[in-house]
Amino acid sequence: TVGNSTNIVWQECSVGKAERQKLLQQKGCVIWITGLSGSGKSTLACSLSRQLHCRGKLTYILDGDNVRHGLNKDLSFKAEDRAENIRRIGEVAKLFADAGVICIASLISPYRRDRDACRAMLPEGTFIEVFMNMPLEVCEARDSKGLYKLARAGKIKGFTGIDDPYEPPVNCEIVVEQKDGVCSSPTAMAEQVVAYLEDNGFLQ
Ligand code: PPS
Repeated sequence: TVGNSTNIVWQECSVGKAERQKLLQQKGCVIWITGLSGSGKSTLACSLSRQLHCRGKLTYILDGDNVRHGLNKDLSFKAEDRAENIRRIGEVAKLFADAGVICIASLISPYRRDRDACRAMLPEGTFIEVFMNMPLEVCEARDSKGLYKLARAGKIKGFTGIDDPYEPPVNCEIVVEQKDGVCSSPTAMAEQVVAYLEDNGFLQ
């Protein structure tokens, strides 16, 4: 029995991950970008996708906001629903990585245990956690969607960083942060991740 399913048997096919990766000349992995709303997750995801695409690498972005328009449209922002949002995106990201794709998941994913559960689903070394370590004040000052203003006014309840928690990673692969009070450009942030992928043999 797996979850609520009984009488299910795993099916194998002779075309496996190794052959797909050879075809694509890359290694499937999940780049998991976590951080507050407005910390630059989607901007980094997009810039990274562009840089890798320009190098002939196949990527796919799973953006929390976007997935909530479809697959996860039944989920709210309470803790159990955020956990389910993260679990489903983790499972989908795992399928993309198994397909040989460099999957970029960009979602707040505020709870450490939920992110760690996704890490545990993936083959060792293929879950690359990127922490957007931006101060709340910076994210709030940007407020590109006007949501912090609504949260401060009490018009959104349970907004991450205001009246809902965010647990920073303790042992992540990459930290993106300000230097001397200045944020890196989207290009520079993406280059930081590309350098990690190169150093760890993901781009071959
Ligand atoms: S989570 O916590 O991982 O399930 O969140 P995620 O799927 O990434 O969705 C975050 C985006 O939803 C908008 N939004 C909220 N964020 C945080 N808290 C509350 N209560 C909330 N309500 C709506 C917000 O636009 C987030 O987008 P980003 O891209 O992070 O700014």
